[in-house]
Amino acid sequence: MTRNIAVIRGDGIGPEIVEQALRVLDRVAELYGHTFTYTDVDMGGNAIDKWGDPLPQEMLDKCLASDSVLLGAVGGPKWNEVPGPMRPEKGLLRLRAGMGVYSNNRPAKIWPQLSSASPLKQEIVDKGIDFLIVRELIGGIYFGKHETVTEDGEAVAIDELRYSESEIRRIGRIGFESARKRRGKLCSVEKSNVLDSSRLWKKVMHQLAAEYPDVELSDMLVDNCAMQIVKDPSQFDVIVTENMFGDILSDEASMITGSIGMIPSSSLGAGSRGLYEPIHGSAPDIAGLDIANPIGTILAAAMMLRYSFDLPQEADCIESAVSAVLDGGFRTADILPKDAAGCTKVGCKAMGSLIIENLRKG
Ligand code: IPM
Ligand code: MG
Repeated sequence: MTRNIAVIRGDGIGPEIVEQALRVLDRVAELYGHTFTYTDVDMGGNAIDKWGDPLPQEMLDKCLASDSVLLGAVGGPKWNEVPGPMRPEKGLLRLRAGMGVYSNNRPAKIWPQLSSASPLKQEIVDKGIDFLIVRELIGGIYFGKHETVTEDGEAVAIDELRYSESEIRRIGRIGFESARKRRGKLCSVEKSNVLDSSRLWKKVMHQLAAEYPDVELSDMLVDNCAMQIVKDPSQFDVIVTENMFGDILSDEASMITGSIGMIPSSSLGAGSRGLYEPIHGSAPDIAGLDIANPIGTILAAAMMLRYSFDLPQEADCIESAVSAVLDGGFRTADILPKDAAGCTKVGCKAMGSLIIENLRKG
């Protein structure tokens, strides 16, 4: 199989973690006889520096011409003072919207080797943590009108939150379909006690439920959900929620699994082309120190093979290699236990090399 991947290294630790993921992909290609070619794409702060725009049209076009997109992370304090529409994050939002990837899937699963890294009590962890957050990605408050006006001599900032029935329905379907492939439980999360957009959200989810009699639908208010995720995460199978709630809950969900550095995500729309990235940020404080955890990005590359290229064996091969390296006690700083007992601390590049050494054709 020959596939072209648009590669966005981005800012901060982005380039170092992406480098490791590409080394892993190259080795998988070698083992299974595929050809992966890479097209470099500038996005984020580095694109602002180089082109004066966080995502020039030409760069978006390269992504749209690719078979899939692999992204490290964007942003950093250097661009904090840049005005809203030109911020690095705006490049990411434009990329998501431009690719039409409305469904962002963020798994929260604890690796057994890392169960002691969870900040939750062992008895809660032992009940199991394995759920999926399906986050609506190209609507809601992120994409409403943003403006700051002056009223009665003071600044007033307005961010519009809107959802149409069709936007809710298409992400709702992904939620139901995902639950159907897992344990058949879908929890729709909203704030229907306050927001109109949430009341519409809930109504559409219940309309859809009639088409999925095999899936058990429940509703939960977002504040309660934030609490339940730390109180008893074993109750969740699939959570479906709107853009901003999904942003917040997915950070919380990743933390209870031990480290945000381990979690990949896929964003998909109508076709097979997806956007794959770790869910963590650009961590500028540790950039260039070779201590970042590349596993989230490496697992994002595995997701790309599975969901966009339909290569489940190759994806399994990467995931098994990660598991073997964790079994061997190798840990980057973010997942190293306090007493480091039985573990070897490794850097970003060494972690990449260990995973490559453990890739075995299944
Ligand atoms: C994420 C990030 C982004 C988001 C930022 C960088 C715009 O936090 O992917 O979760 O809020 O979606
Ligand atoms: Mg986020």
